[in-house]
Amino acid sequence: MTDFQTNREKELIAAAQQISKKYQKTVTEDPNRLYYHIMPPVGLLNDPNGFIQYKGLYHLFYQWNPFATKHGAKFWGHYTSPDLVNWKPEPIALAPSEWYEKNGCYSGSAIEKEDNLFLFYTGNVKDEENNRETYQCLAVSTDGLSFQKKGPVITLPEGYTSHFRDPKVWEKDGKWYMVVGAQSLQMCGKVVLFSSVDLENWTFHDAIAGSNMNGLGDFGYMWECPDLFPLDGKDVLITSPQGIEADGYLYNNLYQAGYFIGKFHEQAAKFEHGHFTELDRGFDFYAPQTTLDDAGRRILFAWMGVPVENEEDHPTIQNHWIHCMTLPRVLTLKDGKLYQNPVEELKKLRLDEVIHEQVNVSADTVQLPEVNGPAIELVIAGIHGNYASFEIIFSDTCRFIYDSSNQSVTFERKSFVEDKVETRSCELASLENIRLFKDTSSIELFLNDGQEVFSSRTFNTNEDHSITFAAKGTITFDLSKWKLKNIWE
Ligand code: FRU
Repeated sequence: MTDFQTNREKELIAAAQQISKKYQKTVTEDPNRLYYHIMPPVGLLNDPNGFIQYKGLYHLFYQWNPFATKHGAKFWGHYTSPDLVNWKPEPIALAPSEWYEKNGCYSGSAIEKEDNLFLFYTGNVKDEENNRETYQCLAVSTDGLSFQKKGPVITLPEGYTSHFRDPKVWEKDGKWYMVVGAQSLQMCGKVVLFSSVDLENWTFHDAIAGSNMNGLGDFGYMWECPDLFPLDGKDVLITSPQGIEADGYLYNNLYQAGYFIGKFHEQAAKFEHGHFTELDRGFDFYAPQTTLDDAGRRILFAWMGVPVENEEDHPTIQNHWIHCMTLPRVLTLKDGKLYQNPVEELKKLRLDEVIHEQVNVSADTVQLPEVNGPAIELVIAGIHGNYASFEIIFSDTCRFIYDSSNQSVTFERKSFVEDKVETRSCELASLENIRLFKDTSSIELFLNDGQEVFSSRTFNTNEDHSITFAAKGTITFDLSKWKLKNIWE
């Protein structure tokens, strides 16, 4: 079913397959290779794309440069899963072969219509002087595996620079809507809206949110990867703005990813909203994308990385790969805030349960029998006691600290750039429980049933996978621990 591929497309796909094969062993044998996170077969992975449950199967596409561990002319790589846990690599979905996408099939989304799968993505084009052109393109599939390109359906509207990309499409009351990340000629980051009745002809409705709009002041020069969806009676706009200055605990990564809660008026093409909140408080989180699955859950994947933030210092590049996705998380709305929790199905990864009840940590540091390992889940619940601080120390790689005197959480890691430590923090009035997923080279911390999440890459420099607990004062908790399966074996 690949008859509609051009020769150029076939050549690019063959070259990508060849390099994947060449480095397969090197990537597989890298001790930092993840056990249960999605990562590229070779090269660089960034944004999740086209996330959808189609004919029962979950499809996750990803931005992929097979040829280097740098950004470049992106392909859409493709995985499928019956359960959001076990992922199968599928043939390359899109290769940047045509004139309107020759410098990359950039990010986009998937929708289902009359049993067909429609992909919307950005065709990125650059000339010799690095001038950019942008086209919002369509590709259609009848089986979810091979895609027929239909070419551009939207060209750049007036009032915007060519930083105009990442279409996210959805349906409401028989009409299709699309949000696109944009930069106005005044260098303000925006989200613009289009609508359509047939998915091919699109009407432009201009910006619905952005820097210097809807009561927001200056808020960045570019907004990438928008996603707008209803959740628990409200509408949520997720976006990844660039150009926001750090402010105390806020906005400490190079680029941000967060959300606005509000009300979307599709007739008037307006979005009324409140303030921006970061989705994740860790070092590595960007370009999240959601889908609504058959069970009615709003599930989010994000890239566990940030564009061009010390990418050249990741130790995995010597083994010809870089980056991974976060775990899939279910979103819910509680007290005006998005809560994120790992999908239930991830319990399938659990092996060899270890339980320690009523663990007491006071003056001395504590290590618990069998509570260690390169790829594990920990659940720490029933936390109580009188303590000024509580720490979980992961060998010499990273550390979780709850400070009850100033009600804050800090995640600290040994930087992989220089021999120094770096931190990310947020406020948290009380610490009730911790659910923690540690993989060979990542950590995701879910605090208080998903109230705050910290996602970060962490790289061990030795074979030490010990975990140590420490407290000032006395803390008591129940702990469960599981080894987690390697889904790639
Ligand atoms: C976000 C992003 C998108 C773009 C893609 C290119 O990380 O810059 O805006 O479509 O990556 O890979």
